[in-house]
Amino acid sequence: MRYLTFALAKGRLAKQSLEMFERIGITCEEMKDKDSRKLIFTNEELKIRFFLAKASDVPTYVEYGAADIGIVGKDTILEEGRKLYEVMNLGIGNCRMCVCGPQSASELLKHHERIRVATKYPAIAKDYFYNKKHQTVEIIKLNGSIELAPIVGLSEVIVDIVETGTTLKENGLTVLEEICPLSARMVVNQVSMKRENDRITKLIRDLRLLLQEENQ
Ligand code: PRP
Repeated sequence: MRYLTFALAKGRLAKQSLEMFERIGITCEEMKDKDSRKLIFTNEELKIRFFLAKASDVPTYVEYGAADIGIVGKDTILEEGRKLYEVMNLGIGNCRMCVCGPQSASELLKHHERIRVATKYPAIAKDYFYNKKHQTVEIIKLNGSIELAPIVGLSEVIVDIVETGTTLKENGLTVLEEICPLSARMVVNQVSMKRENDRITKLIRDLRLLLQEENQ
């Protein structure tokens, strides 16, 4: 049996998805050693390997088949636009992709003004403004702390993830438009889906049952 390789988006999502895997009997003791600098962890018995990667790299590993399965946010899947199968919503990491800014910017959105939009997600922002709203905007790519942009005058609005809304509130900003809901998804390499169909189908079934039980 060949190894089934999982790429997990580093951070909270990896921790939560590993807990889900554990509840369906997929464990990886090696990964629990906090001091370890190892990048890849193996469960020899189940012939499973896990590795942690930067979220935006997870779809790349999966498209090229370096990982059979990936666990990553819908935001990253939309932004990266890789060729893969999205097979399951894991129901964790729930948040929203939104257009945000000071309340005063809502008029600019209504009147389809040519505004500047700062974001870590230029593909999502472009699709939303050009294809859905038919509004020409200038998209400015940033890599973090996006909320700063309208405060310091870099842009009129931002496209960013809103979870609790605390970051917006504490910086005098608000949600102006909602683009889409987001959560963690399981993605599968297109060839692996055929070659490892039995193992992957069982995994999806077990996770679905777990989610059903937990939602009852
Ligand atoms: C994300 C996002 C917002 C914040 C939203 O940032 O970009 O800034 O979380 O969360 P909230 O609605 O609960 O306040 P992240 O912490 O990932 O860091 P970043 O600013 O570097 O993107």
